[in-house]
Amino acid sequence: MTEQINLPRDAVMVDVTIGQGGHSFLFGKTLGPAGVIVGLDIDKNSIRRARLRLKDLVCKVILVNSNFSHISEQVRGRGIEGVDFILADLGVSSAQLADARMGLSFRTNERLDMRIDKRLKTTAADIVNKTDEKSLGDLIFRFGQDRASRRIARFIVEHRRRRPITTTGQLAGIVCDALGGRRKGRIHPATRTFQALRIAVNNELENLARLLAAAPELLKNNGRIAVISFHSLEDRLVKTNFKKNEKEGIYRVVTKKPIVPSREEIARNRRARSAKLRIAERQ
Ligand SMILES: C[S@@+](CC[C@H](N)C(=O)[O-])C[C@H]1O[C@@H](n2cnc3c(N)ncnc32)[C@H](O)[C@@H]1O
Repeated sequence: MTEQINLPRDAVMVDVTIGQGGHSFLFGKTLGPAGVIVGLDIDKNSIRRARLRLKDLVCKVILVNSNFSHISEQVRGRGIEGVDFILADLGVSSAQLADARMGLSFRTNERLDMRIDKRLKTTAADIVNKTDEKSLGDLIFRFGQDRASRRIARFIVEHRRRRPITTTGQLAGIVCDALGGRRKGRIHPATRTFQALRIAVNNELENLARLLAAAPELLKNNGRIAVISFHSLEDRLVKTNFKKNEKEGIYRVVTKKPIVPSREEIARNRRARSAKLRIAERQ
């Protein structure tokens, strides 16, 4: 991405998903003392990790435990008038997937939580134990794009009548039973159901829509926004937003087709296999 984004040394960059600070570190190395990185993340531990990673940069680094749906308040509230670069690398980091406190993994047995931001009230366990069967099926279909959504919802409801569903292992087992080993593909049978619940628990699509709506007002002329997404629902939102803004003369779409990782990158990092990068420039 550093090929498409050339930042002046005094650039203002907002990394709305700071994570471990990996991307910000790469861009931050090219900034001078007048440059600024504002980093946001809903996970306090990400902020802690990024602070360590970025501590030696010469530019100013401001890290905030905030949802990127509040980007405007966070940026303007710090007296920043215009931004050269907004970067969003959506989803979760490998560190979060491996963190049992997140309750995201169907490969290990964890408390079924899925809240990346622990300030949220509703967990995945609340959803699977309290939502009626039809709404649960709709949710798995809409956010997980799983054609077996109705059957999975029925199995969940039958199971929870006997015993509440409290762990990721329990839920993964129920989904596998619902699919009766029918799926022979490479992905784990519970992948789509887990994706659906994570999107719902963390309001991922609403947050992305808010970020995309706020970006044009914040970007300077020729400033760029880059979004890396990991599933088609997110990618569609980004693509549609960029196209609409291009029609209205607000953006020029830099990536006519999304940029996808090379085979080597995927071999190095499995999580990258579904990544799509789209970039637009403020006109
Ligand atoms: C894939 S990681 C980012 C990795 C980062 N680019 C790096 O190089 O280390 C995604 C991060 O975004 C955060 N995140 C997800 N949704 C968010 C939101 N709505 N607002 C702010 N941060 C969010 C997650 O907590 C996670 O730390």
